Amino acid sequence: MSVLEIKKAGDPVLKKVSEPVKRIDKKVKRILKDMAETLYKSKNGIGLAAPQVGILQRIVVIDLQDGNGLLELINPVITKKKGSQIVGEGCLSVPNFEGDVERAEYVECEYTDSKGKPQFITADGLLAICLQHETDHLDGILFTDKAVTITLKVSED
Ligand code: NI
Repeated sequence: MSVLEIKKAGDPVLKKVSEPVKRIDKKVKRILKDMAETLYKSKNGIGLAAPQVGILQRIVVIDLQDGNGLLELINPVITKKKGSQIVGEGCLSVPNFEGDVERAEYVECEYTDSKGKPQFITADGLLAICLQHETDHLDGILFTDKAVTITLKVSED
């Protein structure tokens, strides 16, 4: 496994639309492992999408650090959204900034797991926000493209 370099805003790869994964082979499993390692190595990261490490495939890893562990999503699609809320967000690709973004309160999401099995989840709270943020990455959209306000974070380190 290896920690991958996280691409930062301004890198054109972050603005591209990722390709669906056609086959879950060794290479895809390796990408999932490397992405998880990269996420865990990051400061305060709860989600990472493959384009953020320069890989234009529809792969996302999420760990809300709430004890539920790692969620590996291949070809995630949000199939239903309900409600609306304005939430503060950040992104590993846009360090030192946060912004208020309008997101659905509840989402339903279909994806394929690392074993190739179709999965369906419903989410609200932080997971719903994270799913919307990460699937946006797969379409080349950053939270700063949608944010109603963006502020510079005052870092303590
Ligand atoms: Ni992000």
